[in-house]
Amino acid sequence: ADSLRTLASHVGLRVGTAVNTDKLAADTAYAGIVADQFSTVTAENVMKWDTIEPSRGTENFGPADQLVSFARAHGQLVRGHTLLWHNQIPGWLTAGVADGSITSSALRDIVRRHITDEVSHFRGKIWQWDVANEFFTDSNPSTINPNDFWVSHLGVGIIADAFRWAHAADPHALLFYNDYNIAGEDGSNAKSDAVYAFVRQLRSQGVPVDGVGDQGHLDTQYGFPTLLTQDLRRYTAAGFKVAITEADVRTFVKTTDASQTPTDSLATFAQPYEYSQMLKACLAVRDCLSFTVWGVSDADSWVPNTFKGEGYADIYDVNLNPKAAFTAMQQDL
Ligand code: XIL
Repeated sequence: ADSLRTLASHVGLRVGTAVNTDKLAADTAYAGIVADQFSTVTAENVMKWDTIEPSRGTENFGPADQLVSFARAHGQLVRGHTLLWHNQIPGWLTAGVADGSITSSALRDIVRRHITDEVSHFRGKIWQWDVANEFFTDSNPSTINPNDFWVSHLGVGIIADAFRWAHAADPHALLFYNDYNIAGEDGSNAKSDAVYAFVRQLRSQGVPVDGVGDQGHLDTQYGFPTLLTQDLRRYTAAGFKVAITEADVRTFVKTTDASQTPTDSLATFAQPYEYSQMLKACLAVRDCLSFTVWGVSDADSWVPNTFKGEGYADIYDVNLNPKAAFTAMQQDL
């Protein structure tokens, strides 16, 4: 059967994966799948600030540059991830803020320089930038998290500034607000409503926001979010592009050994069903530009390290064999 990327090309969709650049360099089977199956790539970690500027003033673009060259060689578009997020911030920065040696006005300059330098470095090579990531929470979904690292030190206005600085550095890149549970996955829809209001407000203030990324981290125990399609459509009706940026569907596992395949019905039926429904939601929305899976295989997944007792979240198994979720996606495309 045809590859995901070939099938997706027929319907004008880009299908992607998050790439572990160490594996890309070391594992030819892994690199082969990335090249053959996907038409867009995201750096799983190496475009985050702690990798890009490990010590103050020292740039480390090498690993990300390698991914960008790989993408160019294979006709893939790159999603840049991510410029402003509360995680994976360099240690020198958090330490400097904590001990007061970095004041808030210095911090603002540091953020401006970081965004300007990174976006300029990749100018012309990034399709979509996740400019701001995860500024809302599930526990207090109606409002931007006042305790967010950036918001608490610099005020909410730093988000708008981040978009302005990114746009100035690369006017052609599509600039995204990216978050999880923002298209109905929270049941109540409170977080979706809040993010929808927020991006419209930014746009009404002339802030250059082009799109909204719904991470798409699903969990079989909650069932499929039935509001997903209509919530994606609500963003696009307001003039935003959308993308599913980090799709995975985690499920319960009996052991942390990722080579053990769970055989219960959530793993066997709910998982491929939810991948299929999530992809169909994107396909049903004209301005849903890309569908990116977070990691190639279950051996790469962030899930076991983050959600206790869960795993088996990706579309290839640990031996790089396609799972039922892969086949489901192939059939939908
Ligand atoms: C995760 C990576 O997959 C892990 O390797 C890393 O240790 C932590 O970050 N939401 C995001 C991603 O926006 O950047 C996160 O990626 C997963 C959750």
